[in-house]
Amino acid sequence: MAILHNEERQLFTLHTKHSTYQMKIDAYGYLIHLYYGERIQENMEYLITYYDRGFSGNPYEEREGRKYSLDVLPQEYPSLGTGDYRGSALIIRNIDGTECCNLHYKGYQIKKGKYALKGLPAVYAEKAETLELDMEDRVSHVQVRLLYGVLEEEDIITRSAIIVNGGKSEIIIEKAGSACLDMLYGTYDCISFYGRHAMERLFQKTEITHGNYSIGSRRGTSSHQYNPAVILAGQNTTEDYGDCYGMVFVYSGGFQFEAEKDQFGLTRAIMGLQPDQFSYPLKEGEEFYVPETILSFSKKGFSRLSKQFHTCIRDHICRGKFKDQVRPVLINSWEGAYFDFNGDTIVRLAKDAKELGMDMVVMDDGWFGKRDNDNSGLGDWQVNEKKLGCSLKELIDKVNQEGIKFGIWIEPEMVSEDSDLYRAHKDWALQIPGRKPVYGRNQLVLDFSREEVRNYVFQEICKVLDCGKVDYVKWDMNRSLSDIYSTERLPGTVLYDYMLGVYDFLEKLIKRYPDLLLEGCSGGGGRFDAGMLYYAPQIWCSDNTDAVDRIKIQYGTSFFYPISTVGSHVSAVPNHQTGRVTSLQTRGIVAMAGTFGYELDPDKISKEEREEIKGQIITYKKYASLIQTGEYYRLSNPFSDPYAAWMFVSKDKKHILLNIVVTEIHGNMEVSFVKLKGLQTGAFYCDTATGKVYQADALMAAGIPIPFELGEFCSYQIEFLLQ
Ligand code: GLA
Repeated sequence: MAILHNEERQLFTLHTKHSTYQMKIDAYGYLIHLYYGERIQENMEYLITYYDRGFSGNPYEEREGRKYSLDVLPQEYPSLGTGDYRGSALIIRNIDGTECCNLHYKGYQIKKGKYALKGLPAVYAEKAETLELDMEDRVSHVQVRLLYGVLEEEDIITRSAIIVNGGKSEIIIEKAGSACLDMLYGTYDCISFYGRHAMERLFQKTEITHGNYSIGSRRGTSSHQYNPAVILAGQNTTEDYGDCYGMVFVYSGGFQFEAEKDQFGLTRAIMGLQPDQFSYPLKEGEEFYVPETILSFSKKGFSRLSKQFHTCIRDHICRGKFKDQVRPVLINSWEGAYFDFNGDTIVRLAKDAKELGMDMVVMDDGWFGKRDNDNSGLGDWQVNEKKLGCSLKELIDKVNQEGIKFGIWIEPEMVSEDSDLYRAHKDWALQIPGRKPVYGRNQLVLDFSREEVRNYVFQEICKVLDCGKVDYVKWDMNRSLSDIYSTERLPGTVLYDYMLGVYDFLEKLIKRYPDLLLEGCSGGGGRFDAGMLYYAPQIWCSDNTDAVDRIKIQYGTSFFYPISTVGSHVSAVPNHQTGRVTSLQTRGIVAMAGTFGYELDPDKISKEEREEIKGQIITYKKYASLIQTGEYYRLSNPFSDPYAAWMFVSKDKKHILLNIVVTEIHGNMEVSFVKLKGLQTGAFYCDTATGKVYQADALMAAGIPIPFELGEFCSYQIEFLLQ
């Protein structure tokens, strides 16, 4: 049993293989958090102390004792207005304008299997258990069902909440989190992943001190700027040692993560919906689902934590046919042709793809409506046959005749002002009456909270996909939301309902086209999150294809997201985003830390480079399954080490692929050494290129020297086989 209930002590204990999470209903009916960390069997009530603390108020029942205060105690789901002055997971505004929701325990249920969330992405698993804790405000009758999912083997605990208006009067949810972690003592660093367009998910470590530390997104998307995934780590925690906790929000809209060290040294961390521009009314009997947060704990550093999240996301978030399949090697038309292509260009790419050993050609932006640049045409999902010189069916057939699969780009959530769709339905775009809207990439956002808008776009997209054998779709989204107003609902509900609308569309799409490989994208990695991965098993990691920048972007991405989800392509040099020149080999090695492909014009490169690409694809295909399903290890910190190194280890530990890119070069360089990880202790491994045999323990304890070669960004890929 992963979930235990001690009736007498009113204790709830969640066990995973290596962790324990414990909470208690106390004498006043409050839900108190007791412990989350290394697996233990103890009743942890003894950790809680009670003292008379000035200016920390007491509930009515305790007014004379004065030693019990919600302002001091670790809680599971703190709510505003109860005398806890720290951050709240929940804020409810009552009909009289008061902000108070005093949740008391009502009952529990333990169920087999993992709960699902209506309309929202969530972890799914057959081998799992669910704990439901029912809480209620005894005055307003607001009910909150706290959900805990336990995946024992995977060391995963999930949390969510369903808020129900059990009273007669309308209430407004002003803030809703899904997980609060109160750590009684200790100093923690928060590791978050910040960035910008074309430079996403950069590692950042910040000590949580007194005061509120907060990251999030108000963009209506999870955003390039902050990823909805954080680590709380002990200050000495490294890749391989020390305690750390991960929190991943399974949602693709705005979010907020807050952490604070309180007056008595307790650290509170809350993950949930972005409260700005959120104000969600519930009438009698209505319910609201808060998106899920995935939690995991590791006492063996970040490496173990990443492994736990990789398994969870790969096996219990990603779905569909391609979840465990090696993905096709594709060539995408974007950086090779941008808007300047026709049907012949795509067929030529298909011929090149065939000759070079690729599997699929993707026709990116520019094939529909009036779309020869990014100022017009979005929303008009009619094939521009004039530009292509043929129908889409004919084009797909020609591509297929080359033995190559066909993929296509779409951006369903958007509309250009210069489009027939906008001219016909101005009110379908998010705009505030009487105000000029904010533009992004000269486009507006369609109101996907409205069913008729979604249905129309869905039909139009289906018409395109039904033209021929489309094997892949790249779903793009190229601006942040603004002008939060809908003709059909209150402004405070729009952002959440928009996201539910997008999920509804995606769900319909994958149901209707179960064989389709979907790749998410939002100007690269602007919506790279566990929510999107529930629908699309891979996401274009960044619009930055520069191998050297990608090392840092992919390093940050790797803390939570498995390699199988990371879209990564080899592009031309000088790189279009940085102007940097790196070797084809280095670009290949970096792109192989992802779902591999190309984004260049093969006609514009030399014969030698074409030959090299052929070899590269053979190499990738040889390692594809190891890369996609093996264990991934970070072996360096590219922000401080003069090299970047990472490796893949097959599940049976027989097959190893070590990747190194030297990122700094100086005269008369010191030699760097890279230590391997995850090998079978006591075993021997052979470097397949040199035939040299190494002791696994030596490779892990002392490592191997990185060759000193003249030239910038030299790279090495070394395969080892277990002897
Ligand atoms: C976004 C994507 C790119 C490309 C363009 C097309 O920026 O991230 O890969 O598809 O849109 O407009």
